Amino acid sequence: MKRSARYLAAFALLFCVFSLYVAWRVVQETSTVPVDEWPLPAAHGEDPATHADANTTDTRSEIVQRGAYLARVGDCVGCHTADPRRPFAGGVPIDTPFGRLYTPNITPDPATGIGQWSDADFLRAMHEGIGRNGERLYPAFPYVEFTRVTDADVRAIRAYLGTLAPIHYTPPVNALHFPFNQRWLMLFWNLLNFEPARFVPDPRQSAEYNRGAYLVEGLAHCEECHTPRNLTQGLSKSERFSGGTHAGWQAYNITPDRAGGIGGWSDDALISYLTTGVAVGHANAAGPMAGIVQNSTQYLTPEDLRSISVFLRAQAPVAGGATRSRDSFGQPADDDVATLRSNAVTASNGAQLFVANCASCHNWTGTGVGASAPGAYPSLIRNSTVGAAHADNLVMLILQGVHRQTKDADVLMPGFARELGDDQIAALARYVTQRFGDPRATMTADRVAALRAQAQ
Ligand code: HEC
Ligand code: HEC
Ligand code: HEC
Repeated sequence: MKRSARYLAAFALLFCVFSLYVAWRVVQETSTVPVDEWPLPAAHGEDPATHADANTTDTRSEIVQRGAYLARVGDCVGCHTADPRRPFAGGVPIDTPFGRLYTPNITPDPATGIGQWSDADFLRAMHEGIGRNGERLYPAFPYVEFTRVTDADVRAIRAYLGTLAPIHYTPPVNALHFPFNQRWLMLFWNLLNFEPARFVPDPRQSAEYNRGAYLVEGLAHCEECHTPRNLTQGLSKSERFSGGTHAGWQAYNITPDRAGGIGGWSDDALISYLTTGVAVGHANAAGPMAGIVQNSTQYLTPEDLRSISVFLRAQAPVAGGATRSRDSFGQPADDDVATLRSNAVTASNGAQLFVANCASCHNWTGTGVGASAPGAYPSLIRNSTVGAAHADNLVMLILQGVHRQTKDADVLMPGFARELGDDQIAALARYVTQRFGDPRATMTADRVAALRAQAQ
């Protein structure tokens, strides 16, 4: 009895402290005026005055064009297109720790899309994460980043979306567990993890750095995947860009640390990765990153890509316990075929599975075929997915394959989810990491089963 009373008192106290904190935050929030409209004229290379007369017909088409570019930077199409025949009409399932959400229709259809939204409604959604009827939106919509985008740029995106063909389509209803289906609860999440404010350039930094920051921290929302999350699923500010997870994939550390991150990459390697999905001798883009390259980064101007590189290179390096970079492992296997001949054939022998399923494209030596050309079958040596300390991405890749379309190439590696069982994929992953990657990496059939469930 005495004990439960103490628990009750502790709970009441905690609740009071939390309420006080909430009240404090509300006061703080209303007393800060968001810094609006920093048009970055120097970095954009244009006259900010052009934004002022947005209603004249001359600038209208320019604004729409600019909006189309910005919509690509934000990958609106990636999250809002379930069926390529219905672009921007939503319906993409997004699995969160709290259940399944479906993206809404953002075509100008008045009944099922955002045709009836005013510009102010649209700005409020992008900047504050609040829907047309005042409901709080879930942060699976990256408004935590989109809040930094200038009013002029948000209006340009809106203008572009307004030119799309309206599509009459209602996405499926969300399947979130109680209490997460209560949108008002997002109030608490927002208080802890969201600061609605426009981007403010740092006057001590170059225009290039600021443009990169504006893109990376804003529309391009790189941190959604590459920054780890805290207990309440907010972005962890102290470990920015040091790696996170997304839909079963590891979005690697992209800080400039030479061992943990991408400090060993040149600007050109990063730019090549973002435009083609290939950085020879470093990495290939698969999974969610293939989507980002395909829908978004391949379309960025060379200036914007360079700005992204300048900004990322200036971030705090995080080693994360790594002592050797992911892309520094491996040497060709040249004795395996001889060894294989003298071995009994078993279904779960990694080397045999490799020769049977992978060697036709990657060569039994692991050196790939035509490995330096875009769209080639890449070498598994000095590849970040093979050299990673955790073989999760390797397993996701074997399950799902690679599908990536760019201006340069149509890249396709088949997935093996149906052909290979969990123990076979685990054996294969162990063989590939032992042979061509980080020999300390391990993989179990249970882990493969867990990743397979995520990949559904
Ligand atoms: C990472 C995935 C993702 C990306 C990228 C994304 N969205 Fe969304 N968006 C969502 C989700 C999920 C929702 C629904 C949130 C909810 O139901 O609370 C949403 C909601 C919206 C809404 C509110 C619609 C409504 O009916 O309430 C608008 C407007 C919107 N997005 C516009 C955009 C634009 C413009 C872009 C590109 C600049 C974009 N989104 C990029 C996931 C995304
Ligand atoms: C939707 C989630 C997501 C977003 C958004 C995203 N990434 Fe990634 N990124 C990933 C994943 C997952 C990987 C690992 C891909 C693989 O293993 O092939 C990755 C890999 C990378 C790599 C290669 C790292 C290595 O060592 O292999 C770089 C560089 C990178 N991303 C940069 C960026 C930049 C810059 C942005 C923003 C413009 C961005 N990413 C946005 C998920 C994402
Ligand atoms: C039909 C040819 C083909 C087969 C078979 C094949 N691959 Fe691939 N593989 C590719 C292509 C194409 C790519 C992507 C190249 C790119 O990203 O530009 C790729 C990429 C990869 C990568 C790099 C992915 C990244 O994110 O960095 C690895 C690792 C890999 N394959 C391993 C395997 C394994 C293991 C098998 C056997 C289970 C296999 N591949 C079977 C064609 C193939």
